[in-house]
Amino acid sequence: MANVKFMSGENVPLEMHKVRIVQKLTLLPVEERLGAITEAGNNTFLLQNRDVFLDMLTDSGVNAMSDQQLAAMMVADDAYAGSATFTKLESKVAELFGIPRFLPAHQGRACENIIACTLVKPGSIVPMNYHFTTTKAHITRCGGVVEELLIDEGLKPTSDFPFKGNMDPDKLKKLIAEKGVENIAFVRLEAGTNLIGGQPFSLENARQISAICRESGIPLVLDASLLQDNLYFIKEREAECRDMSLREITRALCDEMDIIYFSARKLGFARGGGLCVRDPGLFAKMRELVPLYEGFLTYGGMSVREMEAIVVGLEETMDEDIVSQGPQFIKFMTDELVKAGVPVVTPAGGLGCHLNAMEFLPHVPQSEYPAGALAAALYIAGGVRGMERGTLSEAREPDGSEKLADMELLRLAVPRRVFTLSQVKYAIDRIVWLYSRRDLVGGLEFTEEPAVLRFFFGRLKPTSDWQARLVQAFRADFGDSL
Ligand SMILES: Cc1ncc(COP(=O)(O)O)c(C=O)c1O
Repeated sequence: MANVKFMSGENVPLEMHKVRIVQKLTLLPVEERLGAITEAGNNTFLLQNRDVFLDMLTDSGVNAMSDQQLAAMMVADDAYAGSATFTKLESKVAELFGIPRFLPAHQGRACENIIACTLVKPGSIVPMNYHFTTTKAHITRCGGVVEELLIDEGLKPTSDFPFKGNMDPDKLKKLIAEKGVENIAFVRLEAGTNLIGGQPFSLENARQISAICRESGIPLVLDASLLQDNLYFIKEREAECRDMSLREITRALCDEMDIIYFSARKLGFARGGGLCVRDPGLFAKMRELVPLYEGFLTYGGMSVREMEAIVVGLEETMDEDIVSQGPQFIKFMTDELVKAGVPVVTPAGGLGCHLNAMEFLPHVPQSEYPAGALAAALYIAGGVRGMERGTLSEAREPDGSEKLADMELLRLAVPRRVFTLSQVKYAIDRIVWLYSRRDLVGGLEFTEEPAVLRFFFGRLKPTSDWQARLVQAFRADFGDSL
């Protein structure tokens, strides 16, 4: 990775790209920010983008594209059937992942639908290192249950363990022995584990899990949506892989897998998705669902322009300078917050910087959604939009009680190549200020609660007048600053 030392000794993540197209941003005054979050039912998903200064909600579909991607989009072969663009994408996926059977889908969760509909039946068990919201929803909708087999270290918010996304091989062996191999639909490994702070698994761990699966005849599925961050960390942190190229690491990892799926809103810097299936029989079964739910087999719901962009984006994912930008910015943000005493997930992972809301707001009980409250508070404090990744993002238990999340995180995504370092410094400044005023922040309660994936469009209100008091504190401390 580019190693550029500054004379000052300061550790600055240096961008290996330049900006050529920009979008104007606005920062509303704090009183208007309070109005906007109230209007949005205290749910950052429901904010209007025009009211957001730094959009750190997600990296999904909002990573900056390269000039090469935009150029490729101009030569896309627009056809319903037999598009040459699709053939290019199919070949690129086969070249990188080593599996020649590829199905296109409109995004990551569409692949999850196809996998769950094909492999999960009522009572099936799906062990995984850790669930993702949409993955779990598809499995439970088909009558299956998810078993979280993350290593214990993975749920410790602060740690120096390099691979907190590893699956525990002993837990997997025990589960197979207890529940019976016939009841396990598949094992899923998620790269760059989203809900626990963008934490990677190691190549060694993937090999251990794969050996268990192969011995038992259970398909191993890789969710490669956040593969690029995971590749970076394997190269940085796993001694065996230090001298391997990202292409070699990708292939070594994929050789262990039976099915690989990805959201191209993340992997490939564009919009779309797809899955590769090693077994021809399983591939044929899954293929039947593509024209039914996605589109014809040579576009699967994607625009051909996006498919051209994904081909280039996948190739760019093999470029260490490109892949390292996100994790290096996230490390900068995490390190600065640690220096200021703000509780964050460590070691810094991929995808974003994660504030530990349980420790940031110890006075807000999990039943009042501390990570959701922190998301609303940070928007008021700085116009920064993050995403709640805690109890709000969980579904209720069948008896209607809350399923309290293992962690209460506010995820501040750093979409790749989108923000400048001064914008990241601004976000750090407002987080540090909010931490100094954390006693003012209270909880939230639902006013409208959807039954499925409630975090996307549920509406909430503060449990007291804490938000108005936060605005007063901002004015007292920042005067007439935006
Ligand atoms: C790890 C992981 N898997 C699957 C998905 C679903 O992908 P999509 O949003 O394209 O449906 C996401 C999206 O954030 C994700 O982070």
